Amino acid sequence: MLSFATSQKRNDRSERLISLLSAVADNELRTHRLYSQFLNSSADISATSGLTGLFKTALNEDRDHYHAIVECIKKLNGHSALEKQAMSKPASGHVNINKLLKTVRMTEAFSVKAYAEICAMTLEYDYSIFDLSYRNMNENMLHLDLVTDFLTSSPCQMSASG
Ligand SMILES: [Fe+2]
Repeated sequence: MLSFATSQKRNDRSERLISLLSAVADNELRTHRLYSQFLNSSADISATSGLTGLFKTALNEDRDHYHAIVECIKKLNGHSALEKQAMSKPASGHVNINKLLKTVRMTEAFSVKAYAEICAMTLEYDYSIFDLSYRNMNENMLHLDLVTDFLTSSPCQMSASG
């Protein structure tokens, strides 16, 4: 029989894990939308920089991460409050590219940290969540590098910063 303290510890861990998974799902959806917005709003910038394909890959990977994490939460929790969020079209109108990409960078960085914590929590406990989180973390590290490089090296972003 489990002691109350052990049982409480497991519950706390499970709650923390679900909270982290919900946070990364939310972030993945946010970055997916921001990449869409970026590609729609800055066709000239991304085309001339030759990075369109990489940003499209990031957009698609974050969409896949979102769906995989929502499924993961559903398995743990029986449901996910996030699953009804639509993969909506990006907002139209004027976009401050510099500000948008800084938001992406911050969100990707947060996701990488959250995935690292999920990996530490699930190592030796739950291989499937560990494996998924490790893969997503590595792909988001590449997204973070892509956005950081673009922000620091693209001459276009200076004129588009508005
Ligand atoms: Fe990402």
